[in-house]
Amino acid sequence: MDIILLGPPGAGKGTQAQRLQAKRGMIQLSTGDMLREAVAKGSPVGLKAKAVMEAGKLVNDAIVSALIGERLDSAAAHGAIFDGFPRTGHQAEALEILLGERGRKIDYVIELAVDEEALVDRITGRFTCANCGAPYHDTFHVPKAAGTCDICGEHEFKRRPDDNEATVRERMAEYRAKTAPILPIYEAKGLVRRVDGMASVDAVAKAIDDILDSPAA
Ligand code: AP5
Repeated sequence: MDIILLGPPGAGKGTQAQRLQAKRGMIQLSTGDMLREAVAKGSPVGLKAKAVMEAGKLVNDAIVSALIGERLDSAAAHGAIFDGFPRTGHQAEALEILLGERGRKIDYVIELAVDEEALVDRITGRFTCANCGAPYHDTFHVPKAAGTCDICGEHEFKRRPDDNEATVRERMAEYRAKTAPILPIYEAKGLVRRVDGMASVDAVAKAIDDILDSPAA
């Protein structure tokens, strides 16, 4: 099964994708993670993407579609969770072609419906362990011992450069202008399932499980 998680920045796409990966063996394909890796390595893609990401704008369609194409076969066995892709009509078309070439198709588009104002707090407060990547939040999820990762004991943490309020608002504007308009394409195909993304992480995970385990799935 190949599914898309769709929602604005901070809706919980990455959180739910990691849960699905751990539970079902599906593969999370996050273009945001791929681009951050490219930036960290200083690769040609990273050099092109860095300033665009820091401004909260969308990276070129051809670049992100190529990143997905390179990794699609890794998710052939148990399916892919597309996290942050597609984000434009061109990317949606590219994905359909890439999957079609492999005899695959999108089974569900799970829309995480959220309140954008609440998301600004979610995003600007988040940080991760610099060693193992465990996620934390200034208000909602602090380490049990201040300054020490619960999982690996690391003392260094990091924040994304695009997680400041001004950039988050730009990312949300990009979502409204370029990504939300692809929803009707998938709605017309009967693929969209809406989940309340403001519920707890566990409740959102259960709602997604119920969809994927439904008899029609
Ligand atoms: P990307 O990395 O995809 O970022 P994003 O879409 O802005 O999404 P986030 O990672 O910020 O949020 P999320 O929905 O995954 O939420 P999360 O689970 O982390 O993209 C970054 C940039 O890369 C883009 O701006 C663009 O420049 C570029 N890019 C990427 N893909 C591209 C593409 N296809 N085309 C062009 N450019 C592209 O959760 C957020 C926080 O909330 C966490 O702290 C989490 O713990 C918490 N949380 C999650 N769920 C809940 C819940 N139910 N209740 C309470 N807290 C919760």
